[in-house]
Amino acid sequence: PPVLVELALYVNGEARQLTIDTRMSLLDVLRDRLGLTGAKAGCDRGQCGCCTVLVDGRRVYSCLRLAVTCDAVGVVTVEGLSTAELHPLQRAFMAHDALQCGFCTPGQLCSAAGMLDEAAHGWPSAVTDGPTGAPELTDAEIRERMSGNLCRCGAYQNIVAAIRDTLR
Ligand code: FES
Ligand code: FES
Repeated sequence: PPVLVELALYVNGEARQLTIDTRMSLLDVLRDRLGLTGAKAGCDRGQCGCCTVLVDGRRVYSCLRLAVTCDAVGVVTVEGLSTAELHPLQRAFMAHDALQCGFCTPGQLCSAAGMLDEAAHGWPSAVTDGPTGAPELTDAEIRERMSGNLCRCGAYQNIVAAIRDTLR
């Protein structure tokens, strides 16, 4: 029989309390229990990155993360990236046409937000500081750091351009 547990987590800054089946993934909790359908179930097996969200600031594949391990953690989904205004990455994605069908986009945005934060903190590899003191990533570095997010429409060129623009 299913084992039910209480889960308390902070999603996009809001405290949420719910009872879940221990077998549920974080993605299923977000989409099916909290109505946050931005993160997508592209493959549901850790291969595409469409389900990427930030957990305590680090990007994770929410399809592979058991929700029960998220007690008391902070989760940010694409819905939480922007508040009154669009996130700079969202604006850059629009300006650079960095999407076609948009299915991968929520994951790309969350991943890019997490990646820029990682880069700003010099993780996981050395990052050279640009003239403004902001991290300066080559296109190859951006591609490598975003390689966990697939786009079946092949919008990679423009995704890289949008991220590069956000770094300026
Ligand atoms: Fe999670 Fe594809 S849905 S990696
Ligand atoms: Fe269609 Fe990326 S825009 S999968």
